[in-house]
Amino acid sequence: QKADGENLRSPICCIMGHVDTGKTKLLDCIRGTNVQEGEAGGITQQIGATYFPAENLRDRSRELKADVKLKVPGLLVIDTPGHESFTNLRSRGSGLCDIAILVVDIMHGLEPQTIESLNLLRMRNTEFIVALNKVDRLYGWNTCRNAPITKAMKQQSQDVQNEFKRRLIQVTTQFKEQGLNTEVYYDNKEIGKTINIVPTSAVSGEGIPDLLLLLAQWSPKTMVEKLTYSNVVQCTVLEVKGLEGYGTTIDVVLVNGVLHVGDQIVVCGMQGPIVTTIRVLLTPHPMKELRVKGACLHHKEIKGAQSIKIAAQSLEHAIAGTGLYVVGPNDDLEVVKESAMED
Ligand code: GTP
Ligand code: MG
Ligand code: NA
Repeated sequence: QKADGENLRSPICCIMGHVDTGKTKLLDCIRGTNVQEGEAGGITQQIGATYFPAENLRDRSRELKADVKLKVPGLLVIDTPGHESFTNLRSRGSGLCDIAILVVDIMHGLEPQTIESLNLLRMRNTEFIVALNKVDRLYGWNTCRNAPITKAMKQQSQDVQNEFKRRLIQVTTQFKEQGLNTEVYYDNKEIGKTINIVPTSAVSGEGIPDLLLLLAQWSPKTMVEKLTYSNVVQCTVLEVKGLEGYGTTIDVVLVNGVLHVGDQIVVCGMQGPIVTTIRVLLTPHPMKELRVKGACLHHKEIKGAQSIKIAAQSLEHAIAGTGLYVVGPNDDLEVVKESAMED
């Protein structure tokens, strides 16, 4: 297939960073949801996934009057836990993504899991932007709900602006110590070479239009090769869980390819390969989190990238973090079973 920019899949964007920097809250702000407040202890303990249709990204960044021509159908955003004990989930999340947002708390600067996350991203050469979150915590911040960041900054006292600049310099210095050049995006003259920083507030929404604009603009330009849609199924199991009326289901991220109801699939199981048939394909509504219980949409087939709940028999012993394989008409089942068990 030609990389002509016309047959692109949705990019997958992973949100990473130290615990409590506001990763989930940023997603809540964009979705208009309240997932974070429902989390046990306010701590994310699973990988999350939310699909954002392209129109939505465009609408929310409209105020910046940029000419956004999105060639991708949307964006699949993966939320990861920041708590130190979930290194495996951060690694799994970063392994799935095409691009990433590294969230830094402006009041704390770089923290241990910020550095761990950025090393995971560097290891895979994943491009990322930095969301410098919680700007509303700057002493004396004047709320400008959902405003582009430069507009919000103009509404701040000289003291707040100075404090912002001081902390911004601290953070860029800390990144420099990690060997990375970063710059606040509206001053960045070396896009591609120097990493963009977007100041944000997940509570009052300042900088969110800017963040969405950068996400929307960036992927099609730099990612055409990587995002050209392919028919080869690339799919990872995130969670194995019961769902009322469906028995044991698996939550998966379909990176590429298509899944159909009736497809014969193989997943890695604790007692050997599990061969089964897709009975039901469910997705959350657009802008809703996969890991939160709620109304789902039924599909006959789904194209990647998407997060999906699959109901099928015999999934009880499926193992999270492993690949899902489809047995095609010309495939040798034994070979597919071997591939599945190698994960
Ligand atoms: P983990 O997933 O557990 O690593 O945390 P997280 O990075 O997802 O952070 P979370 O969204 O749970 O937010 C942590 C706390 O910071 C919550 O109490 C949020 O309300 C608060 N918070 C997040 N973003 C902001 C922000 O922009 N401003 C302010 N004032 N508080 C914020
Ligand atoms: Mg979280
Ligand atoms: Na948290």
